[in-house]
Amino acid sequence: DDAYLITHALAKDTLLRLRDVETEQVAFRKGLVKLGRICGYEIIDGVMETEYVTVQTPLTETTGERVKGLDDVVIINVLRAATPFVEGLLKAFPRAKQGVISAGRDEDAGMDEEGEFPITVDYVKLPEITEKDTVIVADPMLATGSTMCAVLDHVLESTDADPADLFVLSAVSAPDGLLRVGDQFSEADLLTVSIDDHLDDDGYIVPGLGDAGDRAFR
Ligand code: PRP
Repeated sequence: DDAYLITHALAKDTLLRLRDVETEQVAFRKGLVKLGRICGYEIIDGVMETEYVTVQTPLTETTGERVKGLDDVVIINVLRAATPFVEGLLKAFPRAKQGVISAGRDEDAGMDEEGEFPITVDYVKLPEITEKDTVIVADPMLATGSTMCAVLDHVLESTDADPADLFVLSAVSAPDGLLRVGDQFSEADLLTVSIDDHLDDDGYIVPGLGDAGDRAFR
C-alpha cells in the first residue's frame, strides 16, 4: 500500500485551474478530462513495462518499444464526479474495460466520531477482473476515504483473482482518506496529484476544489 504523487507539471497546472473558484462548469469539466489523461500517461510511464518489437517502416525494418498490458486494464468510474476524469483516462487506455459504481456519502447523516460517512451504493456493474489486469479505481476526490473503501469492497468481492495492480487514483486527497484506504486495503497503491492539508468539520478537503460533482455537472 504505497502512496505516490503524480508530479507532472501539467498535472499541477491543471489542478491549479480546477481549484480556482473562478473556473466555471465547462472549464472545470474539461480540466478533469485533461487531468485524467495526464494521470493515465503517468501511470503508463511509471508502472507499465515496455517490450522491444520490430516494425517495418516504409523504408526499412527497425526496432521500437511497445507498452505491455494495455489490453488488460480495468477502469472503475465512481459516479458521478469521476465521469469526466475517466473520460480523460480512456484517452490513455482506449481499450480498457470499464466498471461503474454509484456510491455517495450520506451527507445528512454526517461524519461520525471515526471521521467516516455512511455510504449508499445504488448501482454496481463491473467487468470480469483477472489476475492479468491493472485495475484503476478513479475518483477525483479522496476525502474521508469512506466512499473509496465501500467501492473497493465491491470491486474485490466481485472477483476471486488478485489483479496484477490495483490503483486508487484521485486528483486531490486528504491525509485521513489516504490513511484509511491504505490501512484497509494493503493491496492497493494510492496515486494522487495532491495531498491537501486537512478535512473541515463537514468532511470537505481543505484547500481542495469544492464539490467536484457539483462543479462539473451543474
Ligand atoms: C464525493 C467525491 C467522492 C467522495 C469523497 O462524491 O466524488 O466520491 O465525495 O468523499 P469521501 O472520501 O469522504 O467518501 P459525492 O458523495 O459528493 O457524490 P458525487 O460525486 O455524486 O457529487
